[in-house]
Amino acid sequence: MALLEVRELEKHFGGLKAVSHLSFSVEENMIFSIIGPNGAGKTTLFNLLTNIYSPTSGSIFFDSKEITHLPPYRIARLGISRTFQNLQVFLNMNALENVMVGCHLRSKAGLISSALRLPSVIEEEKKVRQMALEALDFCGLAHVAHSPASSLPYGILKKLEIARSLAAKPRLLLMDEPAAGLNDTETAELCQLIRQIRDSGITVLLVEHNMSLVMEISQQILVLNYGQLLAQGTPEEVQKNQEVIAAYLGE
Ligand SMILES: Nc1ncnc2c1ncn2[C@@H]1O[C@H](COP(=O)(O)OP(=O)(O)OP(=O)(O)O)[C@@H](O)[C@H]1O
Ligand SMILES: [Mg+2]
Repeated sequence: MALLEVRELEKHFGGLKAVSHLSFSVEENMIFSIIGPNGAGKTTLFNLLTNIYSPTSGSIFFDSKEITHLPPYRIARLGISRTFQNLQVFLNMNALENVMVGCHLRSKAGLISSALRLPSVIEEEKKVRQMALEALDFCGLAHVAHSPASSLPYGILKKLEIARSLAAKPRLLLMDEPAAGLNDTETAELCQLIRQIRDSGITVLLVEHNMSLVMEISQQILVLNYGQLLAQGTPEEVQKNQEVIAAYLGE
């Protein structure tokens, strides 16, 4: 079975069908992109996959297990992690602390043992710090570990969010417009980083408007339009599809 399987997913906001009749599956170890015009339902889909929004109907399976109604923290623990379209960085923390927030998903220490600062907790914290440092290093950010997030440029903060989502050691990473606002050099670095993530064994679900990036790195592309699947295929297939050209890509 595929790593992720979405069956007949629907999300209605009043009379608006933000996601409608949507079925697809994502095989392990690929870069799978979701594209489509503004308001097509891409972010809503991510919110459904992580159960930030409950679907109106339909079901979601991850690694053969139904996750449709699991609370977000359980979904995260099973191995789905995400970055956000709008930066979700804590500006009052340094870079390392921001990434450590992501690791606490995996941390086993309970509230009481944490408050008492038992040796097991101190050991756990060391481990969390180490995992965060590794994630920062993986994203090429080891040198800013101790810099306040508020002092870091936008391009670095976008990478910092990726580092945090990786620190939780996901099997599936959802990235919502990671290239938005990046310059050409930063976009090229991002492209390299996304490939590195995939090569490390993490399946990537990418929402992105930067078409040259999408066409360059994706194995599969799903095109959403008004919440519905308009087309799915390889970059070559999608670029040739007349309906996709008319709705989104243009001539
Ligand atoms: N919480 C909500 N309440 C009501 N309507 C919503 C809500 N969230 C999203 N929508 C609507 O659902 C539709 C899909 O929005 P969504 O944010 O998923 O689009 P998107 O494909 O991510 O667009 P963009 O490319 O601009 O980020 C839009 O019409 C949006 O206004
Ligand atoms: Mg969006």
